[in-house]
This record gives sequence, C-alpha cells and structure tokens, in this order.
Amino acid sequence: MKTKLIAPSLLSADFGHLSRDIEMINRSQADWFHIDVMDGRFVPNISFGFPVMNTVRQHAKKFVDVHLMIVEPERYVEEFIQHGADLVSVHYEACIHLHRTVKLIQEKGAKAGVVLNPSTPVLLLEDIISEIDLVLLMSVNPGFGGQKFIENTYRKIAETKDLILSNNATALIEVDGGVNLENASRLFDAGADVLVAGNAVFSSEDPERTIELLKI
Ligand code: DX5
Ligand code: ZN
Repeated sequence: MKTKLIAPSLLSADFGHLSRDIEMINRSQADWFHIDVMDGRFVPNISFGFPVMNTVRQHAKKFVDVHLMIVEPERYVEEFIQHGADLVSVHYEACIHLHRTVKLIQEKGAKAGVVLNPSTPVLLLEDIISEIDLVLLMSVNPGFGGQKFIENTYRKIAETKDLILSNNATALIEVDGGVNLENASRLFDAGADVLVAGNAVFSSEDPERTIELLKI
C-alpha cells in the first residue's frame, strides 16, 4: 500500500446527507473512508453500526477502514467484514486475546489493525507487531470528533517506526484525532502513513480542497 494517505472520518459528516458526503470523498483525493464505531461502553459516546456501514459500502468507491471503539470487538469483526470493511482495527485495551482477534480478522479476509489509546505504551505491541497490518495511534482520547491533538503523539510515531523497523515488519502507522492543516505535514514527516481527519475536513468551507491540502 502506498503511504501519505488521508482517511476522512465520517463521524463528522452530515448524516442527513450521508450519500452526498460519501460522493464528495469519492471525488476527492482522499484514499480511505474512516468509520468510527462507538458502543457507549468502551467510550462514552454511541455512534452508529451496520445500517450506516451498508450505506457506506453501497456508495464508497475507496478502501473502508473501520475503527471499533467497542468492548469485546471479537464478537463483531466478522459482521463488519461481511458489511464491507477492508480493514478492521481493534483497541489493544479492549482485547484480552488480541492475537486471536487479529488472526480472526485476517482469516475472514480483511487487514487487521491495533489501536493504542494516548496513554498506552507502544512497546506493548512488541509481540504482535509482525502479525498486524496497521498500528493506529490515537492522538486524542477516543469518543468524540473535534478534540485537541495530543503532542506526545510525535514521540509515539517515532517509537512505532523503530519497533516496525527492528522487527522487519510492514505495518502502516495511522494517526487519529485532532489532525488538521497545521500538523499534517509534520505527522507525515514523523513517519505516519495514514492520517484520519474529521472536523478539519467536514467543518471547512471546501472539504475537497482541504483533503488535497492535507496531503501536501
Ligand atoms: C475519535 C475518532 C476519530 C474522530 C476524529 O474517537 O476515532 O476518528 O472522528 O475526528 P477529528 O479529526 O475531528 O479529531
Ligand atoms: Zn477513528
């Protein structure tokens, strides 16, 4: 997979005009659709589930990246893949049997990502890094769009890159939360391959142009 990818988060889309916003992403230079699933238990907020996934899959012409912010994600990964997820990321903090869950995602035909909350150390991935397709570093506490970027993320990107290189692993690094036009290029320079952007894209006057600028 090529790097320097942008994944607009549909959490900030206008759900009254969801297909319109999906078409905008199709037309734009965005690479992936980022889908935030929240259960009101792992995170304080509830977002959406399979009906929205169906709408996304019907209209989306790009790679679909599903971020599960739910407890016991292993119970739902297969269904999300059936509903069109190309990549499923599960939180380290939500998985007792992380290796089993990663293998389940891959056996069912999707890429597998592991997400770390801002306070979860990168070195906890040491024994799984060679098995996974992506590390998703949270740069805000998960649960809501539009929060302030946590600066410590730059250090975590560097640590993740070191871990990947020292294991000859191939996982991509994705950063999620508070990404905007001010920090995007520094994040790519620090080693991020994929940037999620919700508020920065959907609150801008010209979302398509913003997506283009996030890649520069
Ligand atoms: C936060 C979600 C993010 C969020 C990003 O829990 O995982 O994907 O939608 O939104 P912004 O870019 O507005 O911080
Ligand atoms: Zn997300």
